[in-house]
Amino acid sequence: MKRNVQLTTLFAVIALIALSCASPKSKQTVENLKAAISGETDASAKYQAFSAKAAEDGYYNIAKMFAAASAAEAIHIKNHNDVLAEMDEEQFNPVAKTPEVNGMVANLQSAIEGETYEFTVMYPGFIDVAIAEDCIEALISFSMANDAEAEHARLYTEALEILNETGTDETVAAVWYVCPICGDLFNTIEDTDNCPICGENSTSFKVFD
Ligand code: FE2
Ligand code: FE2
Ligand code: FE2
Repeated sequence: MKRNVQLTTLFAVIALIALSCASPKSKQTVENLKAAISGETDASAKYQAFSAKAAEDGYYNIAKMFAAASAAEAIHIKNHNDVLAEMDEEQFNPVAKTPEVNGMVANLQSAIEGETYEFTVMYPGFIDVAIAEDCIEALISFSMANDAEAEHARLYTEALEILNETGTDETVAAVWYVCPICGDLFNTIEDTDNCPICGENSTSFKVFD
């Protein structure tokens, strides 16, 4: 099994407690949603730039992986903004930082570092606060992004290993898929009927080929 399915349990717990976000008790969570949107906006722009650079260097499969990942981060932005809307807060659409683009190995390492920070530090911290503030909608949005980032990091690591071992990306997948609900990333959907994070049917996945 390539990953955990902790969200299944999480959703069961949520159904039982069914609490809702509301100001002012979820004040810190509003700030955390905005901080997450900033991080996701930078990540989406960075992966778009990495995709263009990969295509320029002839790494066409890695280019598709990063194009798919950029779209995945845009889904996280939308999900977090949807929570802000549910809380009657204004939409937050910051301008992305100009990405630092280097060679493909360095770009992959930077992408792995960014994702790892998000799923080991940023989102776990935001999830703890969302629980403390009874903000279930944010808890769901943060948890889905958290699990997707872990998968993004795993797939970039695989691509980096291939690039280091073979000097090419020829054995990196040529078709990539993104779950439109949670931003999970796939390099195959051969054995995937439903998204392991959110349960969405794989027939609705966005295809990057
Ligand atoms: Fe993300
Ligand atoms: Fe990600
Ligand atoms: Fe999903």
